[in-house]
Amino acid sequence: MRLSVIGCGYLGAVHAACMASIGHEVIGVDIDPARISTLAAGHAPFYEPGLTELLSSVAGSGRLRFTTDITRAGGAAVHFLCVGTPQQEGELRADLSHLHAATSSLLPLLQPGDIVVGKSTVPVGTAEALAGLVSARGATLVWNPEFLREGCAVEDTLHPDRIVYGLPTEQGVPTEAGIKAQALLDQVYAVSLSDGAAQVITDYATAQLVKVAANSFLATKISFINAMAELCEASGGDVTDLADAIGYDERIGRRFLSAGLGFGGGCLPKDIRAFTARAGELGVSDALSFLTEVDKINQRRRARMVDLTREVCGGSIVGKTIAVLGVTFKPDTDDIRDSPALSVARQMMQEGAHVTVTDPRGLDKARRVHPDLRCADDVLEAGRGADVVVLGTEWEQYRTIEPDALAQVVRHRRMLDGRNALDAGVWRNAGWTYRALGRPHWNPTIAGLDLS
Ligand code: UGA
Repeated sequence: MRLSVIGCGYLGAVHAACMASIGHEVIGVDIDPARISTLAAGHAPFYEPGLTELLSSVAGSGRLRFTTDITRAGGAAVHFLCVGTPQQEGELRADLSHLHAATSSLLPLLQPGDIVVGKSTVPVGTAEALAGLVSARGATLVWNPEFLREGCAVEDTLHPDRIVYGLPTEQGVPTEAGIKAQALLDQVYAVSLSDGAAQVITDYATAQLVKVAANSFLATKISFINAMAELCEASGGDVTDLADAIGYDERIGRRFLSAGLGFGGGCLPKDIRAFTARAGELGVSDALSFLTEVDKINQRRRARMVDLTREVCGGSIVGKTIAVLGVTFKPDTDDIRDSPALSVARQMMQEGAHVTVTDPRGLDKARRVHPDLRCADDVLEAGRGADVVVLGTEWEQYRTIEPDALAQVVRHRRMLDGRNALDAGVWRNAGWTYRALGRPHWNPTIAGLDLS
């Protein structure tokens, strides 16, 4: 099938490459010429595992092209809207300007029978507003939220656990145009559907809500365990044991119960804020007031990390040398948007510490946004002369750092684990002061001894 993908960021670039890899003919469109020329040359414009390989594997097929000229999307039967909906500057709600711009330039290209498929995360009511414009061209809008995670975006796109369609409905029943649109979109997703992906057919409002509800639930789960971390810190409990114990209950589950610096990225933080703002507009702000608390708990973890650093440095970090391992918002991405690790590093710099950061993938972006950031290529370079080392992002290579090797370069053996990713016993046995968010000071492997 001939498809267009409008917006080639983390969502669109991966979607375009994946759709081409399963046999569709795809034109990817973006207003950023640098991004388009990188993609057109067969390279990923950001780090996403498997994406470069996928782009080069489809490059020879001629099925995947990229352009800044949206008119080349004309002739495709299915148009995916994949543009970003970031947080509006100075407000909680989402900035829909990219979506409006993309839709306006797409509308004149639509042919009767085409479908426009909204994948961007939007406030409920957006699809309803766009549907009339699309149907005036004889085309049909379907809302089809995307649930891919950065770091496993290719896998999530090729093997989604569920596919949700929001169709135009009349009195709760899909319209004839909606049924036809569903049949067309089923062809696009034929491989995933035959692989057993669950399918939920619903209306526009529900489809839009599903996405923000899912992200809100995940954010709530993380903030719940981080609230328990605060309780553990106050009472001497261990949040990792607590998470393991409650996680064995299948109704709760252990995933997304890793306490630490909390959530960041381009999705969870802005989505809970936009959802809260939308609830207010709809007159049901009380229903989502808990999300404000979820956000506050999340922000408090960053402040707590700075407090803990101050505490282990004897009350002040002014003039202290601090190594921060990780600048990305999570491992396996180069995305630094709203990164907890970077936020902690910046707060400590502002307080007068000499901070050096390192990261396997995120340094270029971090340097671009913060030219004053001192960056090191690896852990040993970052750790040189450090009074304290802070683990901010749990990259696999940081989980397996040799405490003895790092001890050779630091000034003081102090490891603050912001992700509860290290083995406390190993670090303490190697003579380090090991502290983590939501965990007690004592050493479980050497009961009775306080090495901190
Ligand atoms: C999130 C959702 O997981 C995806 O389903 C969704 O499609 C995507 O947003 C989106 O809206 O586009 P992503 O932003 O890639 O995906 O990141 P997550 O894997 O959800 O992690 C978010 C943050 O939570 C990270 O900073 C991570 O370190 C943190 N986290 C995650 C924790 O602090 N604890 C956990 O137990 C899990």
